[in-house]
Amino acid sequence: MDAEARAIWDSLRGAALAARENAHAPYSRFAVGAAVEADTGEIFAGCNVENIAYPQSICAERNAVTTAATAGVRRLRRVYVVADPASAPCGGCRSVLAEFGSEATEVMLGDPAGAEQLLTLGELLPHSFEMTAQLPGA
Ligand code: THU
Repeated sequence: MDAEARAIWDSLRGAALAARENAHAPYSRFAVGAAVEADTGEIFAGCNVENIAYPQSICAERNAVTTAATAGVRRLRRVYVVADPASAPCGGCRSVLAEFGSEATEVMLGDPAGAEQLLTLGELLPHSFEMTAQLPGA
């Protein structure tokens, strides 16, 4: 990875770690922070916010994406997710990321100690949902 990319990942990591500090996770006790880089270069972050009515909880990744979308963002370049232990986005968040990303969108999984794993959205979500015919002959 070149120095420019590393600097962007470091900014994303810092934003995700800071957001994770605000995670509201009294039920699971599993704090997650996420940060996305828009095609403009802007960074938006989110944390998980749980609710006493459990299904109303929202994941960190979706909070970051909806915050970016509210600012007008429609394309994502990079995503950084921090948890302890590092964890991949849930299936629903993968689909939400795919809405504004592509198969090439890079997703870094990190833990607070600095371990990292770099994946693409295509690796995380092959055969994403589309409203067009996908079966051979269909
Ligand atoms: N969580 C996320 O924030 N992102 C994910 O991709 C998976 C799970 C949150 C939801 C819940 O608040 C806690 O982690 C435990 O599932």
